[in-house]
Amino acid sequence: MTQPSIRIAAIADLHIRVNQDLSPLEAALKDIQDDADVLLIAGDLTEMGRIPEMEQLAQVLARVTIPVFVTFGNHDRRSVRRSALTKLLKSVGVRVLDGTGAVVKLDEQRSLGIAGVTGTGGGFRPGAEEFGPGVRFTRAVMIKSRRESARLRKVLTDVRAQDPNHLVVLTHFTPTVSTLGNEPPLKYWMLGNALLGTTIDDFSPTLALHGHAHLGNEVGSTEGNTPVRNVALPVTRGIRLLSLSSDGQIAVTGLRPIAGMLPEESVRESDLQ
Ligand SMILES: [Fe+2]
Ligand SMILES: [Fe+2]
Repeated sequence: MTQPSIRIAAIADLHIRVNQDLSPLEAALKDIQDDADVLLIAGDLTEMGRIPEMEQLAQVLARVTIPVFVTFGNHDRRSVRRSALTKLLKSVGVRVLDGTGAVVKLDEQRSLGIAGVTGTGGGFRPGAEEFGPGVRFTRAVMIKSRRESARLRKVLTDVRAQDPNHLVVLTHFTPTVSTLGNEPPLKYWMLGNALLGTTIDDFSPTLALHGHAHLGNEVGSTEGNTPVRNVALPVTRGIRLLSLSSDGQIAVTGLRPIAGMLPEESVRESDLQ
């Protein structure tokens, strides 16, 4: 018997600011349970990682009745109080995946594994560091990219061991250049790294979701042909709705538009940290 599909709602890069009007997001999330089994947010929830910014988002997410999982983006990581941000989200039932994973058992037949890390920059080819702003800084980014990939490998191993029907990877930085669209090649090293992609490919997940590349395109794949989607708000212009069928096919089932909430700027060099 074929299993029913698993429905995913996905978005990233909300960049919520203090006192921002979140009614377009609220409207897009209204009755989201009619269209999705889980909501995944791939980082940059906030503009500055401030508690009041996250409080506003938490108030909106508190009304979502399906499981919500997020990973932090570089903007959320501007906060030194990340554990407070995590606690705040947890208080409204939202799980932060930061080198951690989860398996959601939707019913007897359907389970979804999710593995989340922020990731980092580093680039996509040997020598990409030539574009970096200096040897020391570049080396630090490379070390961090290896560390993030090792964390991802560990969580993917853990989640895979629980044998979910589908496995989805949630990162903020991109594991592929194929979703970088109109991003200038000089910025690629800030937007993700190839090691994330090869790590993901080792586990053949159904799908990898990311954000961060505001000028990118939505649909791509890793070198090893893992389907990838860049769900950054400036790219999708709303909450993307996808369906994962039991044979591993991904279907686009809709978009819940979000108007008037686009973040103002694309990725800057300072955003790497
Ligand atoms: Fe962003
Ligand atoms: Fe970002």
